[in-house]
Amino acid sequence: MIDFASSSPDDTLAVGRRLSRVLRGDDIVLLSGRLGSGKTLLVSGIAEGLGVEEQVTSPSFVLVHEYHGFLNVVHADLYRLSSMNEFEDLDLPAMAKSGVLVIEWGGVVAGSMSDYLFIEIDIVDENSRKLRFRPVGSWENRSLEEIVG
Ligand SMILES: Nc1ncnc2c1ncn2[C@@H]1O[C@H](COP(=O)(O)OP(=O)(O)O)[C@@H](O)[C@H]1O
Ligand SMILES: [Mg+2]
Repeated sequence: MIDFASSSPDDTLAVGRRLSRVLRGDDIVLLSGRLGSGKTLLVSGIAEGLGVEEQVTSPSFVLVHEYHGFLNVVHADLYRLSSMNEFEDLDLPAMAKSGVLVIEWGGVVAGSMSDYLFIEIDIVDENSRKLRFRPVGSWENRSLEEIVG
């Protein structure tokens, strides 16, 4: 487990860009944190680092967006998920086969997965956030030091 203190939206974007450099196809990143904590912003940094040119927006209503970069990015937001059946129907891990799967409000599905990086974002104050990285499965053998800079 490793923490990062972000003191601005730019800091959070930069963490996303650094994280993108260690991502491989079929990686899963689960994000948790209250509304406005910076989950979507972090995904923007990841996507930017992966060469995605489209603008990243919150997929709250459609549940899933897919972006194309050096790696594809499947970006889901489970805030409005009504059941685990609905999650299984989405079949996100299959969708993300040749890319990275990033899930906002991912805490609800962590129990059904065995290999992922969990990032929990806490709002400290208006411009400060605490990002806590929790590696699970193969992530436990991967260096997170370069991400937190
Ligand atoms: N250090 C920070 N990191 C991330 N976002 C921040 C930070 N400070 C302020 N913000 C603001 O918080 C909001 C985060 O929004 P968003 O990424 O959509 O959050 P979420 O997806 O968690 O609901 C943005 O308006 C952003 O400008
Ligand atoms: Mg969001």
